[in-house]
Amino acid sequence: MTSKQMIKIFDTTLRDGEQSPGASMNHEEKMLIAQALVDLGVDVIEAGFPIASPDDFKAVSEVAANFRGVEICGLARCNDADIDRAWEALRHAERPRIHVFLATSPIHREFKLKMSKEQVVERAVYGVRRAASYCDNVEFSPEDAGRTEADFLCEVVEAVIAAGARTVNIPDTVGYATPAEMGRIIRTLKDRVANIERAVLSVHCHNDLGLAVANSLAAVENGAGQVECTINGIGERAGNCSLEEVVMALRTRQDYYQCDTRINSKRLVPTSRLVSETTGLLVQRNKAIVGRNAFAHEAGIHQDGMLKERTTYEIMRPEDVGLSSTDLVLGKHSGRAALHDRLKRLGFELTGEDLNRVFDEFKRLADRKKEVLDDDLVSLVQQTCSC
Ligand code: KIV
Ligand code: ZN
Repeated sequence: MTSKQMIKIFDTTLRDGEQSPGASMNHEEKMLIAQALVDLGVDVIEAGFPIASPDDFKAVSEVAANFRGVEICGLARCNDADIDRAWEALRHAERPRIHVFLATSPIHREFKLKMSKEQVVERAVYGVRRAASYCDNVEFSPEDAGRTEADFLCEVVEAVIAAGARTVNIPDTVGYATPAEMGRIIRTLKDRVANIERAVLSVHCHNDLGLAVANSLAAVENGAGQVECTINGIGERAGNCSLEEVVMALRTRQDYYQCDTRINSKRLVPTSRLVSETTGLLVQRNKAIVGRNAFAHEAGIHQDGMLKERTTYEIMRPEDVGLSSTDLVLGKHSGRAALHDRLKRLGFELTGEDLNRVFDEFKRLADRKKEVLDDDLVSLVQQTCSC
């Protein structure tokens, strides 16, 4: 029997996620979230960008000193000050990782860095070597890889692996790539970079076109061994790949992707709620996996199917993501079967004329009210029947 490949989950809620406008967290909140990420079972926690601020430095240092059994990562640009500061924050970690990055796309080279291709390769190699002089677990990201020429990306990746990078992360920094393109980039690197087997290929997708999860999955399909993501998909602008979505896609469709993660999926909803309450960033009601409606059914035909056999309309079990049960919402689209079932749970065994009368009254009430609650039903039965 061949064993399933385990995809590493690199969580960047505390770094890229915290860069979401309006999402900054205080120190105690960051420590609570780090604990939740450990309980969730992520492989790597990117705890911050140590040179960015004293708060970031403190967060990375304390997460590094306090959490064992998980890799703790700090971000740095390819210069001495950033890398030295990152190491200072990480040095007490049981499993430290330094993540260095440098932009490689023509737009960034020309307008932001004002560097030639040769200078970019030289600086990237310099950064990786300096980071590797502190710790053997170095990740390199060619920022804006999604818009970098394929030949040049291969050249950079080969050079940084030779310089000691153990993970090479491919960011679609501006969320521009399509799934087919992202898959092709990863496949090209696998096919053309001579030393590619010495590093884990990773993917880091932004969600500007709503494609971050699809792009990350396309990367996995083509050989990426690590996905960078955040809880609830928070992050710069439209956010990052959502951890809960990519994890549940891999788990639910193991038959297709032939791989899984080490995530304890029962912790997904509690972790999502913690991050939402802490940052104040609300989760949209219909968000996959963790939105309030993700396991709620209102349509009569669906409710009837669900009551007969759950798998008619559910591809995942709510218990598996940390919810207690499916929610059959009683509203104007609900049918007699769902009403009968709910009344039974509330202790009312109604049949025949009694059930018909309550159903008619329920429909009238549901036209006025978006959701009919259990208390409404109890009053309705008491007013309508002799029971
Ligand atoms: O989006 C990006 O390019 C990043 C890098 C620092 C990995 O966040
Ligand atoms: Zn990013």
